[in-house]
Amino acid sequence: MALACVAIILGLAHLLTAKPLDCEPLVPETIDNATMTKLLGKWFYIAGASQHPATLKQLELIKNAYYFMYPSNHQDTFLVTEVMRVNDKCVVDNSSYISVIRDNFTMILHGENESSVAQLIKSSFEDTMTLYHIDGTHKGLSISVRAQNMSTEQLEEFKTQVACLGLKEEETFYTTAKDLCPMEEEGNDKKHSVEVVEPSLG
Ligand SMILES: *[C@@H]1O[C@H](CO)[C@@H](O)[C@H](O)[C@H]1NC(C)=O
Ligand SMILES: *[C@@H]1O[C@H](CO)[C@@H](O)[C@H](O)[C@H]1NC(C)=O
Ligand SMILES: *[C@@H]1O[C@H](CO)[C@@H](O)[C@H](O)[C@H]1NC(C)=O
Ligand SMILES: *[C@@H]1O[C@H](CO)[C@@H](O)[C@H](O)[C@H]1NC(C)=O
Ligand SMILES: *[C@@H]1O[C@H](CO)[C@@H](O)[C@H](O)[C@H]1NC(C)=O
Repeated sequence: MALACVAIILGLAHLLTAKPLDCEPLVPETIDNATMTKLLGKWFYIAGASQHPATLKQLELIKNAYYFMYPSNHQDTFLVTEVMRVNDKCVVDNSSYISVIRDNFTMILHGENESSVAQLIKSSFEDTMTLYHIDGTHKGLSISVRAQNMSTEQLEEFKTQVACLGLKEEETFYTTAKDLCPMEEEGNDKKHSVEVVEPSLG
């Protein structure tokens, strides 16, 4: 009897001290022309979380990364140039593109070797790109921001979303702003850059 009481009190004490998680469902962002325009330009990849063992291995290797989203001739396709430090080597990949399926808020990332599906998630912050990655039954979340460093508020939002998805801290990898790779052969992207620097605003 006494032991049961102690157990109940300890149990309650635990509940009272545990920090409540303020979970809100992830809401996909409507992808319209304005959203498409807002996504253009340079982004810094900051962190990624995944339940998929293979993806987790890849995330662990990425020390840092930034990328550029360019408009293409096709309305719902972005061209992407990624500059990554992977395994202490610099990798520039301009072979990827993203196709957008507006009906179901989906972005399909077509990489050189593989494709992945993600949904753009609403964020409280303008300069945040949160992607919810769907890979069979495995979930994942990644965040990119406009600045090299993420603010504490952006970090808190991301951490909460990760925890609410049921992803563990050890399934999350953060990049470091140190030793960003230079973008090679800028000349190759002249045509793209001009479009980004001077978007036609009608
Ligand atoms: C969105 O942009 C495309 C061209 O990029 C245009 O054809 C279409 O009419 C625009 N849609 C709206 C709703 O403005
Ligand atoms: C990608 O980079 C290669 C080599 O740097 C270049 O030859 C090619 O034209 C670039 N492709 C695009 C789509 O920018
Ligand atoms: C959205 O539709 C595309 C094409 O039909 C499909 O490949 C993709 O898996 C869908 N996304 C989601 C989240 O259901
Ligand atoms: C794609 O696969 C090839 C061959 O395995 C590899 O050399 C290349 O680095 C891969 N590309 C990316 C972007 O991972
Ligand atoms: C990013 O944050 C780190 C650690 O707080 C700091 O050392 C670094 O200078 C910051 N970089 C930028 C570009 O703000």
